[in-house]
Amino acid sequence: MTHAQPDPVPDAPTVAAVVVLAAGQGTRMRSATPKVLHPLGGRSMLGHVLAAAAPLGAGVTVVVVGAGRELVREHLAAVAPDALPVVQEEQRGSGHAAAVALAAVPDLTGPVLLVNGDAPLLRASTVARLVEEHRSRENALTVLTAEVEDPTGLGRIVRDADGSVRAIVEQRDATDEQRAIREINAGVYVGDAAAVRSALGRIDADNDQGELYFTDVLALLVGDGARVGGVIAEDPDDVLGCNDRVELAARRRTLNDRVLDDLMRSGVTVVDPLTTWVDVTVTVGRDAVLEPGTHLQGATSVGDAAHVGPDTTLVDCTVADGASVVRSHCLGAAIGPGATVGPFSYLRPGTDLGRGAKVGAFVETKNVQVGEGSKVPHLSYVGDATIGTGSNIGAATVFVNYDGVAKHRTMIGDHVRVGSDTMLVAPVTVGDGAYTAAGSVITSDVPPGAMGVARAAQRNVAGWVRRRRPGTPAAQAAEAAENRAGALREESSGPSRADTDS
Ligand code: UD1
Ligand code: CA
Repeated sequence: MTHAQPDPVPDAPTVAAVVVLAAGQGTRMRSATPKVLHPLGGRSMLGHVLAAAAPLGAGVTVVVVGAGRELVREHLAAVAPDALPVVQEEQRGSGHAAAVALAAVPDLTGPVLLVNGDAPLLRASTVARLVEEHRSRENALTVLTAEVEDPTGLGRIVRDADGSVRAIVEQRDATDEQRAIREINAGVYVGDAAAVRSALGRIDADNDQGELYFTDVLALLVGDGARVGGVIAEDPDDVLGCNDRVELAARRRTLNDRVLDDLMRSGVTVVDPLTTWVDVTVTVGRDAVLEPGTHLQGATSVGDAAHVGPDTTLVDCTVADGASVVRSHCLGAAIGPGATVGPFSYLRPGTDLGRGAKVGAFVETKNVQVGEGSKVPHLSYVGDATIGTGSNIGAATVFVNYDGVAKHRTMIGDHVRVGSDTMLVAPVTVGDGAYTAAGSVITSDVPPGAMGVARAAQRNVAGWVRRRRPGTPAAQAAEAAENRAGALREESSGPSRADTDS
């Protein structure tokens, strides 16, 4: 199994605390959803940041919340229940946010990772390198930086002649000379808690935005004669922030490229990386093939040599080795080894297909176990059922599971043949080796080996078309057929063909 998880970091260095700054409005997203909750690649932006910091095993993770705080709190409870949300009532700047966070953990000492909540491409390995550099250099503050083509809007890293970091200057406060600098502040820092606290107590809002900037901490510590350093990210993509939906789409694309590159390098065929989207939480086995238009989401895992797509979405599904899923939409389904799904199947939660089972065209399933080798090949709804092994469900069968008030279960034994267009009105059981007649409405149990027939006997109304639809093509065709039949009858009542021919 190949993991597209954030790179595991062996012997990860550690910090006393992680502080995520996530209180900002995210105005440029123009969204009712707080910026850090926008999803990409299977996690929220905030979720990616937390995942990058997780291997540090920090004693405490503080998340500063403000705009949309209720939603952010709810999200944290779901994805990071151990994190401590701390409210920044008024968004007075990143420095103020950091101060609010540190005030919530007054006894904290040692290194603290501070990170902007809008850095979804940040990798665990990059964070680990920053922390390790901070520790080995015995810095008071270490900032993650990157050399970028276009630094517009970002804080610039000001270094002195010998290359030491002296200050971070925001674009709007920068001189023309500083604006030409292409090394930028990633918004990811490791600082000694005591040193950062002391500097935060001294920052002011004397800048173009009138905010308390965390970035001013750096120059203050330099002024104190403390050791301050910068670590340049190996991959500048790691530090890209996300401020509007154009950037969100670009970050999503980058994240997806990374996931697909990892998968391809580990032995997965991705036929068309441009139309294949795989969440960071998904695993895919060797020699699996992902066809164009494949979307793998959430806790999905795809086994070795499995075949998915084209045009298939799998959410929280397990696809076992050698199985195939073609042009289908599947949610919370388990697809057994060598099983086949599609084209055009809709598998809903609780679907569990055994080894070699088949669900075919225009079939919907929900909360159903399909035993080894059993088949539901065409045009059926199968809900709340257990199907044994080697059984076949005829075309257009409906498992009638809902009586308008409650759901009921259908039990189908082994080697059962359910005739086409059978209605199985649950609760009902069809025993091992039993059959049902096509078109039956089965309301009571069919014992093992029996043929269940539940349909009106056929009645033919002779001559109905001639009488009721005279002159139509149907009537003419019927008349011609009757005439032919009449001629045949006359012939067979006369001498035999053999006699006349000889
Ligand atoms: C910030 C940095 C900039 C850096 C860039 C990287 C500052 C002053 N500048 O700029 O040097 O290049 O990130 O992306 O920090 N926040 C709060 N409370 C607030 C204000 C902000 O929690 O009162 C949070 C935001 O949610 C965000 C982070 O702090 O996650 C940074 O704030 P943002 O306004 O996005 O700063 P940038 O202008 O992007
Ligand atoms: Ca930002």
